Amino acid sequence: MLIPSKLVNEQFDDRYFDVVDALNEAQQIYFRNNNLIERITMGIESRTPFIIGETGFGAGRVVVALMEFIKKSGLKNISIEYNSVELYPLSPERMLDILNGFKDRVGEEIDTLVETYRSIDITVAGWHSAKIQKSFGTIELNLWIGEALEMVESLEKSCDVWFLDGHSPKKNPSIWRPELLMAIGEKTKQGGTCSTFTVASDVKSALIEAGFILNKYPGCGGKKHVLQGVKY
Ligand SMILES: C[S@@+](CC[C@H](N)C(=O)[O-])C[C@H]1O[C@@H](n2cnc3c(N)ncnc32)[C@H](O)[C@@H]1O
Repeated sequence: MLIPSKLVNEQFDDRYFDVVDALNEAQQIYFRNNNLIERITMGIESRTPFIIGETGFGAGRVVVALMEFIKKSGLKNISIEYNSVELYPLSPERMLDILNGFKDRVGEEIDTLVETYRSIDITVAGWHSAKIQKSFGTIELNLWIGEALEMVESLEKSCDVWFLDGHSPKKNPSIWRPELLMAIGEKTKQGGTCSTFTVASDVKSALIEAGFILNKYPGCGGKKHVLQGVKY
């Protein structure tokens, strides 16, 4: 299949996401495989924000998919802290151009994300925070502009879940290197989880070394199986 050039990150010669089924893919790999709705519900009951970490913010497709997923769940009063990192931030215009492929399905969510992203000065390295307020509650978007390991090391709180969404390990080994995955393990709550689309053996070994028990879970589209890990 021909991949539209706007979907290719020229830094790594790899696409931002699967062209065909990117929203469903995020919802399967990152949300369903991590029991997100049940776990966010527990947070509402205990009034504790649910903390997400992501490697690779890219075009923000996972955030858009998350807004749709939570809206459909009917949950209210949710509070999510969404910590992500991006070394090569896209312009808001390019982000919009990339996400617009989904506008018939999630037009409102795309507008919300791009408006929020515009409020961030992506030319300045380090943490940036912006609030997404929707009828279901709040997502506090904390975006680190810079290198993933620095972001993880500077996180003050451990995460309930990590979405590992860097490029393929072959195209971008930097975002899968053992020291980074080890730091992610250290910034995951006990019983917290992680998931990723890749089942590469080096990634599996590094996640096991970082303290995760790995499970092979259903993928989406072309990916039959993906990884999910539980931190012990
Ligand atoms: C596959 S894309 C992420 C897609 C994104 N989650 C989305 O849904 O739109 C991976 C992203 O990670 C970024 N990246 C790659 N290596 C990185 C690193 N070492 N530190 C921070 N960001 C990195 C890339 O620039 C790219 O935007």
